[in-house]
Amino acid sequence: MSGTAAQISVVPRRALRQTRRMSLPLRYTRLAMVLHWLVAVLIVANVALGLTAELYPETWVRPAIDLHKSIGITVLGLALMRVLWRLTHAPPPMPARYGRLERRGAHAAHLALYGLILALPLSGWVHDSAFAQAAQHPLRLYGLVPWPRIGFIQAMDLEAKQRLHAQWFSIHVALAYALYALFALHVAGALKHQLWDREPELRRMWS
Ligand code: HEM
Repeated sequence: MSGTAAQISVVPRRALRQTRRMSLPLRYTRLAMVLHWLVAVLIVANVALGLTAELYPETWVRPAIDLHKSIGITVLGLALMRVLWRLTHAPPPMPARYGRLERRGAHAAHLALYGLILALPLSGWVHDSAFAQAAQHPLRLYGLVPWPRIGFIQAMDLEAKQRLHAQWFSIHVALAYALYALFALHVAGALKHQLWDREPELRRMWS
């Protein structure tokens, strides 16, 4: 291809990308930032509660697990709001100098994080709905708001419920491990951009 022909095919695409970048917002909205940090803090608290619940004195174990469930359902609601926000708003563009691989990797990690943040509370809810003593321990968010178990799971016979209860706990734990790995990657990526690339990465989600 001659130099001119190559330029004709490349320039408009580059110009189009540039125009698209310029039409993107410069920052996240306040709501997007609040949802991001609220979900992050609640997840850290819930992982800590999930991992330590059995270590508390006998009378604290049940309240700790109940609080874990309440926080988990709250995370589910907030994460759904965050997904709705993302479907209706474009995020600010990543700095132009990040390579294509880096952008794609970041997008893939963000997508997987959304998936896990939704899948973790859902798997916990399925696990809890198959709890054989569910009727004796009704689920009330923060001890106040009644929250249903999943009806068709509760209607199963005892043996099927016990099987499901164990299977979905393993799934819940496996998803938690995947979350630890992705969370570490997410934080490492943010810190690399902030400290190594000297891009104001943390400010994008802070102010
Ligand atoms: C943000 C959402 C959630 C996160 C990050 C999370 C994380 C965890 C973790 C890390 C554990 C400990 C696993 C282990 O022993 O290795 C756990 C246990 C557990 N989770 Fe979740 N969970 C979430 C939501 C839920 C929800 C919504 C429910 C139920 C409605 C639930 C029910 C449980 C139960 C019953 C246990 C076992 C607690 C015990 O017996 O010690 N989780 N969760």
